Amino acid sequence: MNLPASSSFVANDASGYERLMGRWSRRLAEPFLDFVGTAPSERVLDVGCGTGALAEALLQRGPVQALHGVDLAPPYVAAAGERVRAPGVAFQVGDACALDFADQHFDRVFCLLVLHFVPKAELALAEMRRVARPGATVGAAVWDARGGFVANRVFWDTAAALDPQGAGERRARNYTRPMTRPGDLGRAWRTAGFDDVVETSLSMRMDYASFDDYWTSFSGTEGPHAEYVATLDENGRSRLCDALRRAYLDGEADGPRSYAALAWAVKGTAPR
Ligand SMILES: C[S@@+](CC[C@H](N)C(=O)[O-])C[C@H]1O[C@@H](n2cnc3c(N)ncnc32)[C@H](O)[C@@H]1O
Repeated sequence: MNLPASSSFVANDASGYERLMGRWSRRLAEPFLDFVGTAPSERVLDVGCGTGALAEALLQRGPVQALHGVDLAPPYVAAAGERVRAPGVAFQVGDACALDFADQHFDRVFCLLVLHFVPKAELALAEMRRVARPGATVGAAVWDARGGFVANRVFWDTAAALDPQGAGERRARNYTRPMTRPGDLGRAWRTAGFDDVVETSLSMRMDYASFDDYWTSFSGTEGPHAEYVATLDENGRSRLCDALRRAYLDGEADGPRSYAALAWAVKGTAPR
């Protein structure tokens, strides 16, 4: 699993991403858009658009003058283009740290569940500010991976108990990604020079149908959990699967489980 220097997110396959996160991004997009606000006929940029969850939710709220989605992962960009078709909408492969847009071009710049996977997140934020017109809203959200993302904690805490070194290190990395600690986003937005900075916490739930639904989403090909599972041999994988099954079932029959998930969110205004 090779990673480009400006991303720590393993991205190979759009349908695997939908199972892991796209379905939940779609859900998180609603409170995120409520928080950052939308207005008709604007020019909007979706940085790290993935498979188009945010773009789709945005278009359901009304027409745009233009909506550009940018992501480093070609399979995700292709899937977004197939899924989200509307006048003025375009998706392209690109790096958040070197956006291919003119200065002061967009009315709104959004970034959903991306900045924690950008090693130089401040660079991406500087780019988001550069392409925002004076008075534009720039907003982002990242998972509260340590304190508010239950499905994630079940995975890493179980894996680290079995494999304190391998999974333990990855768990620590997962909980300390850029801009995921309390107050990180607000500090970054103020340091970048935005006005009227507001931080909040958004909540939603991840509803898994069964243990198989939970396990296949984390053990596929996308994201940090699958990246770890791919390092295990057959025996290690089977031990992890069994331990996660016990954690998921909690002594009850297999079936649906609903896990709370919190994201930190921030918005600010580009200086006029
Ligand atoms: C968890 S996904 C979020 C995708 C989408 N925003 C959503 O909410 O479903 C993280 C995304 O960030 C993208 N990404 C990571 N680093 C990036 C960078 N430097 N530039 C552009 N995209 C990046 C990945 O390819 C991946 O699609």
